[in-house]
Amino acid sequence: MSATSPGVSISSAVPEHVAVIMDGNGRWAGRRALPRHAGHKAGVKAARSAVETCAESGVKCLTLFAFSSENWRRPREEVGALMALFVEVLKRETEELHRNNIRLRFIGDRPSLGKRLAQRIAAAEALTADNTGLDLNVAMAYGGRWDIVEAARRAAERVAAGELSPADISEETIRGHLALGDCPDPDLLIRTGGEHRISNFLLWNLAYAEVFFTPTLWPDFSNADIDAAFSFYRERQRRFGRTAEQLEARSC
Ligand code: FPP
Repeated sequence: MSATSPGVSISSAVPEHVAVIMDGNGRWAGRRALPRHAGHKAGVKAARSAVETCAESGVKCLTLFAFSSENWRRPREEVGALMALFVEVLKRETEELHRNNIRLRFIGDRPSLGKRLAQRIAAAEALTADNTGLDLNVAMAYGGRWDIVEAARRAAERVAAGELSPADISEETIRGHLALGDCPDPDLLIRTGGEHRISNFLLWNLAYAEVFFTPTLWPDFSNADIDAAFSFYRERQRRFGRTAEQLEARSC
């Protein structure tokens, strides 16, 4: 059984939902005297391989942080190159993902991405909507604070429409309005690139995630790194606020 909500304690062999902050593309390129864009291109290959491995390992849901709300602050050329890369990747990979029964979903401030990319996203989501294999969520122009504000706004709209009373707003109300409201919370967060922070990713959903940091730069992220992350996960005792003694008593 997978540990996805408070009350469940023992890590299953494979996390049900894995979230990834893919960091280190720029440094990977810099070390090779290549432009940053080359690092992002190499990052796509690593993303492809991580998707394949997670699907084969029985992960049910994989959420990749491709572009944060704050990444708009990068130099205009880098942002332009990233947007063009996302369009190209969707064009090239969507059919293959579909053949592999993968369901694609994009989370983030979609209108800010521009018409061309938004159209590609809508087409990819429509094509793969009925697939039943891996759920692949790609966060673009996404921020955890943005997500919570959007959820609060939707709840407020329901209150204004008389559908909901303020006294009835609960954690479940807010969670239900989040971009990943219908997904279990991530069991495991992986961050590559050596930084130890969560950078405004899935702030609500990561409340009880196990967190694996690795110095590996994202383009170098391999199956061996995934194995290391999954081994780390298997060794965690997920307590969700309880004591170790309580958990031991429950497992007897
Ligand atoms: C962070 O590395 C990476 C990004 C901002 C872009 C991530 C994009 C990809 C991996 C490619 C696309 C993937 C999909 C799924 C479409 P960085 O540039 O911050 O690296 P640095 O910290 O070394 O500068």
